[in-house]
Amino acid sequence: MPVSSHMFRNKLYQVSSFRSLACRLNSHSIYPSKNTSALDSFSTLGNCQAAPRVMESIKNTIAENFGGKAPGLATHQFSLDDVPDLTGKVAVVTGGSEGIGFGCTHTLLKHNIAKIYILSLSDDVVKGAKGAIAKELGEDMANRTKWMRCDLSDWWGVKDVADKIKSNTDRLDILINNAGRGIMTYQLTDYGVDRHMAVNHFGHVILTSNLLPLMKETAEKGNVVRISNQASNAHQAAPSDTRFESLEELNRDLGPNGQYGRSKLAGILYARYFARKVTKAGQPNLLMNATHPGFVSTKMSNEDIFEPFPLGGYAMAYGLDPFKKDQFQGAVPTMFAATYTQKSGQYICPPAVPEAGSQLSQDDALADRLMELTWKVIMQKTRHGSANQDSPIGDLV
Ligand SMILES: NC(=O)c1ccc[n+]([C@@H]2O[C@H](COP(=O)([O-])OP(=O)(O)OC[C@H]3O[C@@H](n4cnc5c(N)ncnc54)[C@H](OP(=O)(O)O)[C@@H]3O)[C@@H](O)[C@H]2O)c1
Repeated sequence: MPVSSHMFRNKLYQVSSFRSLACRLNSHSIYPSKNTSALDSFSTLGNCQAAPRVMESIKNTIAENFGGKAPGLATHQFSLDDVPDLTGKVAVVTGGSEGIGFGCTHTLLKHNIAKIYILSLSDDVVKGAKGAIAKELGEDMANRTKWMRCDLSDWWGVKDVADKIKSNTDRLDILINNAGRGIMTYQLTDYGVDRHMAVNHFGHVILTSNLLPLMKETAEKGNVVRISNQASNAHQAAPSDTRFESLEELNRDLGPNGQYGRSKLAGILYARYFARKVTKAGQPNLLMNATHPGFVSTKMSNEDIFEPFPLGGYAMAYGLDPFKKDQFQGAVPTMFAATYTQKSGQYICPPAVPEAGSQLSQDDALADRLMELTWKVIMQKTRHGSANQDSPIGDLV
């Protein structure tokens, strides 16, 4: 079947920025009926008291997703220069050697962080990243990074890496759950779990849970400890019938956008769950938020996109390139969440706009079911015999 421009549009998640703009307009209170389309309603804006809010919403959507001067339009401003001094602090950044993750690593070092553990797959990419840091910020800064190979789909390996980190440092102030499998085709891991969920959600839950005792200790000494999950506005592509009720449901083939979008929805729900179960339940200094980085020029948006869309990928990789943010602009909301915010359980869009997210992302019951299923699947797939201590996860969060 020929790929029409309409199909292109539906296949490219970043163009969902435009879709999300339309959704926001449609859901706005000025529209009397759900059947009124955003564009029809534009004509009524001039006479409407709600027009400033609509304009604000439009400006935020542009600022959140695109590069260049677009971020300046947002209602909530933040820049990498606003990152506070991080002397003495320690961070873990998954995927910290490339793309947005590298933007985070570089910024943390620029603000004098003491140590960063970078968790990723490829040795070569890390060597390149370290070389770039040494050149730009000096050898001392490059030596503050420690790379640990970590495949987030290897859940036992994730636990081992977390254990090594715990034996190497006595504090952890920042955890950035950034690495991810992008918009790619459906795959099952060899242990039978949807690979998007296995990497983007389960792997990060195992990492976070194993590092949690160290983060609690750090928080209890009077420090604010911040965890940031890299989500996406593509979470809106999760199917509306998502229930997180069973492994069979997780292992449905939803297509590249649905598969990716659901794993990003999980990142937001996890942050909201954590805020309820940890921050508000006696750990006020332990925060978790989720972010959308915008539409960012990285390997994921320039190369990986060809895997599911050999033809359509050109539009994303090249056609839309002038509108993309660079990796440093893409790091801004994460830096806000990881070094600055005092809030927990928010979904933060560029530069630092707290957004509601989709209806599903606001559903506490769905978050509870997601985390219950997370626990069950990890137990089922990793427990040898019947002893809980054989699992790579101790506490649920
Ligand atoms: N780019 C965008 O427009 C955009 C938009 C919304 C959200 N995001 C999110 O932003 C995050 C960073 O993406 P990016 O755009 O910066 O992509 P990227 O440049 O391709 O970086 C992805 C990173 O994830 C690591 N990674 C991939 N699979 C892994 C695994 N199984 N275990 C451990 N590490 C793994 C990669 O490690 P290696 O380099 O070693 O392979 C790499 O460091 C992702 O969570 C993505 O979903 C991106």
